[in-house]
Amino acid sequence: MNVFRVSQHPGWPARLGPVHVAAGPVTLRPVRLRDAAAWSRIRLRDRDHLEPWEPTGRGAWEARNHASNWPSLWSSLKAEARRGAMIPLVIEVDGAFSGQLTIGNIVRGALRSAWIGYWVSKDLGGQGIATAALALGLDHCFGPVGLHRVEATVRPDNHASQAVLRNVGFREEGLLRRYLDVDGAWRDHLLVGMTVEEINGTVVDRLVRDGRVTRPVK
Ligand code: ACO
Repeated sequence: MNVFRVSQHPGWPARLGPVHVAAGPVTLRPVRLRDAAAWSRIRLRDRDHLEPWEPTGRGAWEARNHASNWPSLWSSLKAEARRGAMIPLVIEVDGAFSGQLTIGNIVRGALRSAWIGYWVSKDLGGQGIATAALALGLDHCFGPVGLHRVEATVRPDNHASQAVLRNVGFREEGLLRRYLDVDGAWRDHLLVGMTVEEINGTVVDRLVRDGRVTRPVK
């Protein structure tokens, strides 16, 4: 057997979808070096929308989210992906950069677990895009990546994200006190989880049954 052909990281790189929402086809694909301008434009414009929910970073928002910072961020995301710990994806709607979905802390062995997180451009909010992207990401985790459990953490006052997590079938597991340094302070987070046994078919199937997405016509 040629050992160099055995994937050290099942499920990476990947292009997922599309599934359709009213705004257009939603797909996920790996982050690219040339995402700098689109990434930075949205993140600088949407600071108020994003900052209350994201881990506290070093330095000013403007500097951290300037296009010139993307190459080093992209490079560290790709390094994590190459060592099998992360799957950093871009959410595209109708082919345009619209947000990010990241599968992180991928642990194998007897745990086979990861966390999942996401953000979507404010001007595209409320159209089912995060829900569709999360379903694609979860089906990838439980399919090609081979995970048994995926978890997510969300601030109790992030009602939109909690709705997204409920839409795809996450189960609430508890409250993590002062869990994460977010927006400048240690914030409580709700822990939600899902294991492969809880899925009836696929997560996208669930959204199709609920009338939230459609599959492309072949
Ligand atoms: N209160 C209650 N529900 C709300 C509110 C609100 N103020 N605002 C929106 N919602 C609901 C909508 O009704 C919808 O639920 P429904 O489908 O049951 O009607 C849901 O929230 C939004 O669903 P989508 O349209 O699929 O989500 P969207 O594409 O708008 O993206 C997201 C949601 C990702 C939370 C976006 O607002 C965002 O990027 N926010 C900033 C960053 C962020 O919070 N990221 C998530 C961090 S937690 C984590 O990653 C696990």
